[in-house]
Amino acid sequence: MPGQRFYVTTPIYYVNDIPHIGHAYTTVIADALARWHRLLGDDTWFLTGTDEHGLKIQRAAAANGISAQEQADRTSARFREAWDRIDISYDDFIRTTEDRHTASVQAFLQKVYDNGHIEKRRYSGLYCVACEAYYSEAEADEHGGNCPIHGTPLEFFEEDNYFFKLSAFTEPLLEWYAANPDAVQPEGKRNEALGLIRQGLEDVSITRTSLTWGVPVPWDPEHVFYVWYDALINYVTAIGYGTDDERFRAWWPSVHHLIAKDILRFHCVYWPAMLLAAGEAPPNRINVHGYLMVGGEKMSKTRLNQIFPSDLVHGNAEKEIPAFGVDGFRYHFLRDTPFGPDGDFSLEAMVTRYNADLANNLGNLLSRVATVVVKKCDGVGPAPRADSPLAAVAAEVYREAAAAWDAIAPSRALEATWKLIREANAHLEAHEPWKLDPGAEVDGILGDALEVLRIVAILAIPALPETTAEVWRRIGLEGVPSEQRLPAAARWGQYPGGLAVEKGAALFPRLTAP
Ligand code: MSP
Repeated sequence: MPGQRFYVTTPIYYVNDIPHIGHAYTTVIADALARWHRLLGDDTWFLTGTDEHGLKIQRAAAANGISAQEQADRTSARFREAWDRIDISYDDFIRTTEDRHTASVQAFLQKVYDNGHIEKRRYSGLYCVACEAYYSEAEADEHGGNCPIHGTPLEFFEEDNYFFKLSAFTEPLLEWYAANPDAVQPEGKRNEALGLIRQGLEDVSITRTSLTWGVPVPWDPEHVFYVWYDALINYVTAIGYGTDDERFRAWWPSVHHLIAKDILRFHCVYWPAMLLAAGEAPPNRINVHGYLMVGGEKMSKTRLNQIFPSDLVHGNAEKEIPAFGVDGFRYHFLRDTPFGPDGDFSLEAMVTRYNADLANNLGNLLSRVATVVVKKCDGVGPAPRADSPLAAVAAEVYREAAAAWDAIAPSRALEATWKLIREANAHLEAHEPWKLDPGAEVDGILGDALEVLRIVAILAIPALPETTAEVWRRIGLEGVPSEQRLPAAARWGQYPGGLAVEKGAALFPRLTAP
């Protein structure tokens, strides 16, 4: 249905760390979904940004000998540069140190306080600064006094805190999960969240007095909100919570959060409870994916196993990494790491996939078609045939791809799209137009292949925003494919024929494995 709203978010990334391919993975998926929904004609809003408060940032700044604000400014800029480099088409980039965010956080949590869900207590416990989270004695004992995620020693903290009375939300959350079976995807992650809730929820401390780098508590400014309770609210700040109610009401029902499983508890337990406490609906959809691993381990600053987007896009001779280009980079993460389970990053697999799908399948289709059109049709692309056997394939591929994007399964959507490319190549090989004399048969075969290229130039936009525009141009079409609207534009038979086809350089030069 055209004209729906689609609001998609990534986590906001901490500014103690520079962007690596783990951050890029979530962000590219969000971007691909935003591009797909724009093609559907949906009113689309894509939010990403940076999480800039908390002790972790304060310590990183101190270690770098700069102020927390300077640390946030510098690193936030690096995230924006990284996203520009890989063609991330965000509509808004939020920074939690912005005034608009302070205003929304204060309005939101004041509401929760006024509704009676926050109270002051003395708190002590074992804290992990890297997680910005307290752990129970039991969790600490189980890991020898170390953080279960980072393996570093937990620190003992004691302070007066305001508590969010989360324990009162066990039942309301279970009811919400029962009434919204699709809210958390995939099902395994939904069950994990339900498991956490069924264990019984404890009240959580949501403020700190031990630091100043945060949003002040409006009713007690000695305190600042603990970074997570400020961070989650970014998703409503950006659409006007507390500042533009009409806008907030228009966009909130269509939200799709994307996160990795490391922050499932915050998004699938705390965040829905906070929203209920503020009198708002919990998120419409939370999509949880696994970790991108390197050599079997999660990428992290402490493990020094990070890979940076620019190394893969531009290549890095020192690290023996070939240049995949922007679209080669995006395609790999969308196609090769199915959404949900953990995925192991491998340069060899990335090269193999690039050569098979981009250099060979797509690249060959365009270069063959253009070569034969130049040779046999004086460079003028003929129109497709209404009764082409490829028409049914195109219709089926569209249905599959649309269903897969809808189910947040980019890997399946692209697999379906490439089926059409493979079929078109097979069709050419079966009929070998390069061996035939110019005439109606050659025109028909090439027209069909050009029509496939036209459709693929639209369907592959979420993965290949640059290349699809180039394919569109080379086959002689006007404008840019992103102006097309689905499903109408995917219907067979719209390549008009009579257009000048250009045989340019290889779209994706073949790469050799390191
Ligand atoms: N600031 C919090 C999120 C607050 S959202 C209200 C945070 N930031 S983070 O910088 O650590 O980013 C975590 C997110 O980055 C993950 O949830 C995931 O989206 C992405 N990833 C970072 N490393 C990743 C992998 N190795 N694999 C997959 N995703 C990864 O948590």
